[in-house]
Amino acid sequence: MNKDSLVLIGFMGCGKTTFGNWLAKEHGYTFVDTDQLIEEQQNRTINDIFAAEGEEYFRDLETGMAESLSLRSDKIVVSVGGGLPVRPVNRAFLRQTGRVVYLKTGIDELERRLKGDTKRPLLAGGNVREKIENLMEQREDIYTDAADIIVDTSGRSFQQIYNEILRFIKALEV
Ligand code: S3P
Repeated sequence: MNKDSLVLIGFMGCGKTTFGNWLAKEHGYTFVDTDQLIEEQQNRTINDIFAAEGEEYFRDLETGMAESLSLRSDKIVVSVGGGLPVRPVNRAFLRQTGRVVYLKTGIDELERRLKGDTKRPLLAGGNVREKIENLMEQREDIYTDAADIIVDTSGRSFQQIYNEILRFIKALEV
C-alpha cells in the first residue's frame, strides 16, 4: 500500500476511467484500470471472457487483480470495475491498496452515458435503465460501505472532484 494511492469505485459509466486517467496525468500517479489489465492479461475482451467462461470466472480474475494491487507500494490511481467491490474480500484488498473513493453519479446521468453501450455484458439486451436500477439497488450500500470518501460527480469538473477528495483526505488525517 501507498497511503497516497487512490482507488476509484462506482457504477459503470460514473467516470472512473476518464477521471482516473486525468488525475494520473495531472498529478503524477501511475494509472491502473482493472478491466484494461484483465483484458491485456487474458488477451481478450470482457465480453469474450463473460461469453466463454461466465461471470464467476471474471470475478475470480478481479479478485486476483485486487490482491496484486494491494501489494503495490508505488503511488497509483486505480479505476476499479463496477462489480469488483461486491465481494467482501475484494473490499478488504481495495482498502489495503489506498484511499477508496466512491464516485457517485445519478441514475439519469448513468442511463444517458450507458445507453447504446456494447462493451458491458451486464447491460446487454433488454431495458438499460431497468438494469441500472436493479444493479444499483444491489450495490449502492456496498459502494458506500467500501468507501473512505464519497464524491458526488454531478456538474463538477475533474479539478473540483479532485479538490474535494483532497479536502476529505485532509479531514481524515487530522
Ligand atoms: C462490471 C463493470 C465493468 C466491467 C464488467 C462488469 C460490473 O467495468 O468490469 O463489464 O459488474 O459493474 P466498468 O465499471 O469500468 O464499466
